[in-house]
Amino acid sequence: MFGRIATKYDLANRTLSLGIDTLWRDRLVEEVWLGNPDTVIDLATGSGDVAFALREELSPSVRIDGLDFCEPMLDEARRKQRAAGYHNMSFATGDILRLPLADACCDAVTIAFGYRNLADRHKGLLEMRRILKPDTGRLYILEFSQPFHLVRPFYYFYLKTLLPNVAGALTGDKAAYQYLSDSIEAFPDRSGVSAELEQASFRDVEAIAMTFGTVALHMARA
Ligand SMILES: C[S@@+](CC[C@H](N)C(=O)[O-])C[C@H]1O[C@@H](n2cnc3c(N)ncnc32)[C@H](O)[C@@H]1O
Repeated sequence: MFGRIATKYDLANRTLSLGIDTLWRDRLVEEVWLGNPDTVIDLATGSGDVAFALREELSPSVRIDGLDFCEPMLDEARRKQRAAGYHNMSFATGDILRLPLADACCDAVTIAFGYRNLADRHKGLLEMRRILKPDTGRLYILEFSQPFHLVRPFYYFYLKTLLPNVAGALTGDKAAYQYLSDSIEAFPDRSGVSAELEQASFRDVEAIAMTFGTVALHMARA
């Protein structure tokens, strides 16, 4: 599905979120910066927007690697990296459910708008914990969430009616955006994701609600 929309993915994101998606990623980057990591792996990196936002804020000595299993999305990320001339970063192919990475190889794992898509979220979390340095490694999950009650009817009206039509016109793939609204509706709220992190033995779990609760940033220690 992401392969079909790869070349239009960034434009659709900016349009459908009215540009707010960059602010969500900026908040994620700010939290990663506070953790002062030497190595960051951006999972479900897609067209690389989180990896590039990290590259712009973190020291050039910090190593940043993106990973995704969708080659057309990775092609977009690599094209953007060449155009911007970013160094000390790369984009690799891999499945989050079987990460081609060594145990305890990084200080921070980020995943933005990818956790919801995993076929087995618990298995994905175990893999994320495996590659993080024990005790000090930190996980950052940026993901859609369940909005505050008052805005819920308006939000779901937008998600189920306006969004698939606008996105269909922009990308030519209305079905991909129907999947988006269905997957958001079926996804747990902040306390549900926090419980999933604790079930996978993550510690010090915190959740920050953004934009009326429509998006959440979860943070935890391995
Ligand atoms: C909505 S995009 C998010 C891209 C980017 N992180 C962002 O913030 O724009 C979700 C990405 O997750 C990737 N993905 C989903 N499941 C995956 C898995 N099991 N392993 C690797 N990548 C996966 C998809 O290929 C897609 O590029």
